[in-house]
Amino acid sequence: MSLDLLPDGIVILDFGGQYCHLIARRVREMKVYSEILPSDASVNEVKELGKTMKIKGIILSGSPSSVNAQNSLRLDERILDLGVPVLGLCYGHQLLAQIHEGDVRKGEVKEYGSRTAYIDRAEGILEGTEFEESVWMSHGDTVYSLPSCFRVLAHTDSAPVAAFSYPEKGVYGLQWHPEVKHTTHGDRMLHNFVFNICKCKPNWRPVDVIDEGINAIKAQVGNGKAVIALSGGVDSSVAAAIVSKALGDRIMAVHVDHGLMRLDESRQVKEAMERIGVNVKVVNAKDRFMSRLKGITDPEKKRKIIGEEFIRVFEEEARRFGAEHLVQGTIYPDRIESGITRHADTIKTHHNVGGLPLHMEFKGVVEPLKDLYKDEVRALGTKMGLPKELVWRQPFPGPGLAVRIVGEVTEEKLDILRKADTIVTEEVEKSEIANIPWQYFAVLTDTKSTGVKGDERAYGWTVAIRIVESVDAMTANFMRAPWDLLESMSNRITNSIPQVTRVVYDVTNKPPGTIEWE
Ligand code: XMP
Repeated sequence: MSLDLLPDGIVILDFGGQYCHLIARRVREMKVYSEILPSDASVNEVKELGKTMKIKGIILSGSPSSVNAQNSLRLDERILDLGVPVLGLCYGHQLLAQIHEGDVRKGEVKEYGSRTAYIDRAEGILEGTEFEESVWMSHGDTVYSLPSCFRVLAHTDSAPVAAFSYPEKGVYGLQWHPEVKHTTHGDRMLHNFVFNICKCKPNWRPVDVIDEGINAIKAQVGNGKAVIALSGGVDSSVAAAIVSKALGDRIMAVHVDHGLMRLDESRQVKEAMERIGVNVKVVNAKDRFMSRLKGITDPEKKRKIIGEEFIRVFEEEARRFGAEHLVQGTIYPDRIESGITRHADTIKTHHNVGGLPLHMEFKGVVEPLKDLYKDEVRALGTKMGLPKELVWRQPFPGPGLAVRIVGEVTEEKLDILRKADTIVTEEVEKSEIANIPWQYFAVLTDTKSTGVKGDERAYGWTVAIRIVESVDAMTANFMRAPWDLLESMSNRITNSIPQVTRVVYDVTNKPPGTIEWE
């Protein structure tokens, strides 16, 4: 892209703080592009990002470690000479102070949570703030003093230098986290940095990815053909929609119906995608999957078989279609360190096509969403006319209902679980908690118990209901769901599914539990 067309952007250096992605998202919400690099990125790696944005500023994130620790995380100091303003937040604030010979030591008290900052100079990054500001703190080290060329902008009861600026050098520091909503005027502070200090223009929109992506894909794929594995999740659906605008019939979206989908799901996915002009092939591979799963009870074996079979079916279709390019719905957090699957992989063999090695050689991989966050992908999906149910679909595991049936997967159990799952979904979606949980679903346990149905003894299956709240699936809490809601689910499940005699509610958090049962 020509330099003139590049969006203005801010580079964020990640020192391991928990809010790093939040900083990037806040900047993007202001229509300014941002990308994260690891803290040890060299000045050349930072400059390299100049190919995707006009670099107008740099933000150093927080970190769980101390600037005084042995082997503490440092910065390639040549980055400070790039001629763009640099803002340090928390650890970044302390690091900039230390580099400029400030006095940074372990604080007398650790400040954690909401604190009052006293604004000594409401200027520059703190322009428009009040004398007392409520800010979010999380630090053990404290900046006690700075050389006289620095301007101290704020202090707290225990931190003498809680904000500083040195405009001539282009360095700024905030001990607190403006990116966290608990900092009342955090948005204003970031706005001051991004627009007043870095002089960014708000000229980036996630929807621009559509046109840019289409041109890039045309150039990359030429007259060739491409395939994508369409799971029905928002990422692969939006990626398929963009690539299809570039390639028309030369892309085929392959939806492998492994027989482990929820009620009517494959049909809905196909119809929704065809309505917006995407070429979809649904491969009915149910018999292949069911015959390989026969007699298998070990959860990891089940996952492995499903993953392998999936790839086999997908490869066959790709070959038949003559595709030389593979499209993936990889999104930004998948690409950088600390992605959720990286962590979760150590616990379960996760299955999603993007993460599994293909035996097939492709000439190229197309990833139109690789720079976007999930909410940005959703905005794109809406813009492209995908239905709300698809854009906001809750996460669904690649191995489908197989990991929600404890023990052997059989047709009968799948049928029971599909019915129970439909009831859980319907009840949550019409209730007052709709839109709150991260996931809500039914599990068919391997336990039978005695019940009474129509005055007769019945001996049937136990269904567990799982409703969890989470922000990123790495941790989750069971939801304190209203009793009435649980009761109506239980009544409907036991009344309408003859083989079920008991319904239980799963009250396990993650950790120690995982979200899925297998
Ligand atoms: P767990 O059960 O590990 O799940 O706490 C964390 C999140 O990941 C989803 N999940 C999967 N997603 N392929 C996927 O694409 C998988 O194999 C898979 N297994 C679990 C799960 O639904 C939850 O959102």
